[in-house]
Amino acid sequence: MKMKKLFIKNGRLLDPATGIDGKFDIVIMDGRIASMTPPGKGGKDTGGEGGEGGEGGKGSEVIDAKGLLVVPGLIDLHTHLREPGFEYKETIESGTAAAAAGGFTTVLCMANTEPVNDNGSVTRLIIRKAADAPARVLPVGAVSQGLRGKVLTEMAELKEAGCAAVSDDGMPVTDGGLMRRALEYSTIFDLPVISHAEELSIAGEGVMNEGEVSTRLGLKGIPNASEDSMVARDIALAELTGGRLHVAHVSTRGAVELIRAAKKRGVAVTAEATPHHLTLDHGALKGYDTNFKMSPPLRVPEDVEALRKGVADGTIDCIATDHAPHSSVEKDVEFDAAANGVVGLETALGLVLKLVDGGVLELATAIRAMTSNPARAMGLDAGSLKVGSPADVTIVDLGLKWTVEPSKFRSKGKNTPFTGWKLKGAAVKTILNGKVVYSRAKK
Ligand code: DOR
Ligand code: ZN
Repeated sequence: MKMKKLFIKNGRLLDPATGIDGKFDIVIMDGRIASMTPPGKGGKDTGGEGGEGGEGGKGSEVIDAKGLLVVPGLIDLHTHLREPGFEYKETIESGTAAAAAGGFTTVLCMANTEPVNDNGSVTRLIIRKAADAPARVLPVGAVSQGLRGKVLTEMAELKEAGCAAVSDDGMPVTDGGLMRRALEYSTIFDLPVISHAEELSIAGEGVMNEGEVSTRLGLKGIPNASEDSMVARDIALAELTGGRLHVAHVSTRGAVELIRAAKKRGVAVTAEATPHHLTLDHGALKGYDTNFKMSPPLRVPEDVEALRKGVADGTIDCIATDHAPHSSVEKDVEFDAAANGVVGLETALGLVLKLVDGGVLELATAIRAMTSNPARAMGLDAGSLKVGSPADVTIVDLGLKWTVEPSKFRSKGKNTPFTGWKLKGAAVKTILNGKVVYSRAKK
């Protein structure tokens, strides 16, 4: 069989998994990273300009990444692809196109579809539909049947069908006994449990953060205690069972503290924060714009600060989008009635790079939180450029200035709180398994 070869030269390679940051050329062969060498040292069969492809004769493709940053393909642990069941909001096709355009090569997709991904046939359907998609799709199975919180799913079946984790995301696992058993099984089946940490009896009918702004707006609030108490419970259960807990979309300073202390004790817990919780606070809701409504809600500036510190010091391992596309039917309604969620795949990298530009995060920390850390949290063979790894690569232009325009999104969801934001830095090429799946159009 003819070898398929791709040569990325002259770029600045940043691979937090191996600690590499410098000028390197990489050669990709048959979908894997074949070599990594200082510029020009790759030997002649690494192909010259548009050159011959070594053994296989012609067919070596060359990408000149001069002035660009080359990183492992980004991994999003928290995407809602909406298929099956809500194809009017998003499909596997539109959602993975959005992922590729955002620089993501792997997305984990949540189980709150219709039907719920609570059995192997739904998992297999998703995987089949995503077979030729421009991003690798790893389904997350449900913790409980129908997300009803009563009966555990068959985790062995979900694992066997290809699930990477389990979560009832969108809903918390209210029953602590059920969560305990899910965490017990998580070690047997090697399926991390992703917690949407929300104590519903405390959240009540809240639609935003409980505080000064909710009072002024006359909207019902959700106190931090809703999240803090559930994170405390889940950490206690992870400690009890030795199970693998991943806390989704952390939004409160209390949760950051709990996770930091748990990690110090050696509990197997990982966590993520979203770009929107890292950049916005509850003050943004003043105009009753439903594009700022999500679960958990935007908190106070002290929480945002704590999340930022948490990512900076590694307490929060990952930055994940919680990409939650909705249509105007769910969003162009009064605030109380609007659905929770914002899209994120096409703005995440730009927003994170804004934090880097602002001195909030080191570039390597930011990229680690979007590559090797999510891979480690879920035990994925991805998130690094080391020789032998799957050739998932994102090429980033750190200087590219652009403006967030939802009408240009590949995602069907236009529900972003970032319309009109001027960002700097974007993926210009996304490579999945050695194949270029996205190239940003030149202006
Ligand atoms: O804002 C959110 N939207 N949070 C969730 O937990 C679920 C998600 C959705 O499915 O729309
Ligand atoms: Zn959630």
